[in-house]
Amino acid sequence: MNFKITVLSGDGVGPEVMTEGLKVLAAVGSKYSHNFKLENKLIGGVAIDKTGSALPAETLKSCKKADAVLLAAVGDPRFDDPKLPVHPEDGLLALRKGLGLFANLRPVKVFDELVNASTLKPEVLKGTDFIFVRELTGGVYFGKPKKEWMTPKGRKATDSMTYSEQEIERIVRVGFELARSRKKRLVSVDKANVLKSSRLWRQVAIEVSSDYPDVMLTHALVDACAMQLIRTPTAFDVIVTENLFGDILSDEAAQLAGSMGMLPSASLAGIPVSGQPTFGLYEPIHGSAPTIAGKDIANPVATILSVAMMLRYSMGLETEALAIENSVDKILKQGYRTDDIMASGNTRVGTKKMGDLIAAEV
Ligand code: IPM
Ligand code: MG
Repeated sequence: MNFKITVLSGDGVGPEVMTEGLKVLAAVGSKYSHNFKLENKLIGGVAIDKTGSALPAETLKSCKKADAVLLAAVGDPRFDDPKLPVHPEDGLLALRKGLGLFANLRPVKVFDELVNASTLKPEVLKGTDFIFVRELTGGVYFGKPKKEWMTPKGRKATDSMTYSEQEIERIVRVGFELARSRKKRLVSVDKANVLKSSRLWRQVAIEVSSDYPDVMLTHALVDACAMQLIRTPTAFDVIVTENLFGDILSDEAAQLAGSMGMLPSASLAGIPVSGQPTFGLYEPIHGSAPTIAGKDIANPVATILSVAMMLRYSMGLETEALAIENSVDKILKQGYRTDDIMASGNTRVGTKKMGDLIAAEV
């Protein structure tokens, strides 16, 4: 089959890990006879340097014409000053909004081989396998008013957490659909003891649940969930939550897997119903890691697993996605490790070598 992909390598380690992701994609293409047509575009700090914008119009246009978008990382310390008019991260937020990517899927799977890579106890981690469904285009990230202003007593600033029932319904449905294809347990996370938007969230989740009698829905407050995640991570199957809660909880959960370098993500514009392809953007959850950029030490596995998610959700190629995931599994079993997950007795490899090994295994 033929597919069009817009490739956004971005900043820091982005280009390095993207090269490895594309290497593995090419291996899938030749093994299963698919033709992936790639179009490279700018985003983030490199885009600001060349065009003045973190998301040039041309990049958005290319993404809109593609079947899927692969993104590596945005972020550059040169733009850290909050007073600057434009930041690399603006490009990512504008892209999410511009492409209507409301559903962010972040699987957290602890590989048996890596139970010792985390700071948490192996017996707590073993068997952890759940997925976050984070709302991505609403909530406090985008709610209005969002501004800073001057008052007689000094500066003030505000952000607003706003959700419509339509926004809540579609994201909760993504949670139910995924739970249906997994262990049929969905936890909806909110702060309904305090926030109005969370009370609406909880009501809508309960209403939608009548369409999914086969899925068990429970509710958790975000603070309690944060605790539960590191106490009994194996208790979770699918977690659905709003934008900021999902941002925070998913970084916390990344620590379960030992390294952010292991975790992929998908951001979808539609509800994934039984294997039907939907447009999406795929990226590792780690950032641009500028301090290790260009040194061939970044872990490319998160990007490679993001390629697998792209094949699964935007192209309907489940067999091909599994081929990548199984190859990652095998290479880890053989003891190959990048720096971030290295332990005694393992074989240390660089970014390129890790990509080579996984591609060859496919
Ligand atoms: C993430 C990141 C982004 C977010 C930043 C880079 C804007 O932390 O994808 O989790 O907050 O959504
Ligand atoms: Mg984050």
